[in-house]
Amino acid sequence: MSKQADISIPRHIGIIMDGNGRWAEKQGKPRSFGHNAGTESVRRVVEACLTKGVKYLTLYTFSTENNKRPAEEIDFLMNLVPSTMSRELNKLKENGVCIHTIGDLLHFNNMVADCCRQSFEETKNNDKLHLIIAMNYSSRSEIQRAVSKICSDCKNNVITTDDISETLISSYLDTKNFPDPDLIIRTGGEYRLSNFMMWQASYSELLFVDKLWPDFTKEDLYDAIGSYSHRDRRFGLINNKNNEK
Ligand code: IPE
Ligand code: IPE
Ligand code: MG
Repeated sequence: MSKQADISIPRHIGIIMDGNGRWAEKQGKPRSFGHNAGTESVRRVVEACLTKGVKYLTLYTFSTENNKRPAEEIDFLMNLVPSTMSRELNKLKENGVCIHTIGDLLHFNNMVADCCRQSFEETKNNDKLHLIIAMNYSSRSEIQRAVSKICSDCKNNVITTDDISETLISSYLDTKNFPDPDLIIRTGGEYRLSNFMMWQASYSELLFVDKLWPDFTKEDLYDAIGSYSHRDRRFGLINNKNNEK
């Protein structure tokens, strides 16, 4: 008998990990101190997702707009992602985590690109948890790149304009291999998406948490899943009882 998926557990969680800088500044420390502490929260939520059987976890680590920050902070974050990935790679591999990235990867420096390639290669056969790192990502840039590619495929007769459906558009996005997020959590006390998965979030449940990202614990993730399990996902219908989560 096939195993029934537990609909109270979101299949895909996206997290807008906000509040590292304020967390550090509150302690009179440089913002980089908060970004380092944020990597511990990442470790905790990955473990919590593995425990709960979440299949996809997308972490918003660096937005296209974050490129407007001071060069020193951008460099720090650009080094932090690969150094954390390398440090955690063996454990992620052992735990059945498959690593992916979304975002405009063309502008990454070689060190970041090489590290991503190695992580993809070494974890490509894993299927327990798909960990999707959104780097140099923004929804508008993703949609703009998809529209450009659709237009060029129309021009080159790969597709026709009649082929353009919601499913086709989804298949040109960076997230083409992943289901839409069921639950999006934003820490840091702001109530906005900041250009995160605006196409994919059409029917996501949203949860805004006041805690700053470095303070986010496994319990907070379990509470978020608990809150999700009580949401009434109607997808435009009237009767909610038999809707799939
Ligand atoms: C989130 O923390 C991490 C990134 C956006 C890279 P912030 O750096 O935005 O921290 P705050 O919001 O200034 O506290
Ligand atoms: C959103 O945080 C982006 C990431 C968490 C990577 P920001 O701190 O950049 O968002 P805004 O500027 O407050 O909207
Ligand atoms: Mg912020």
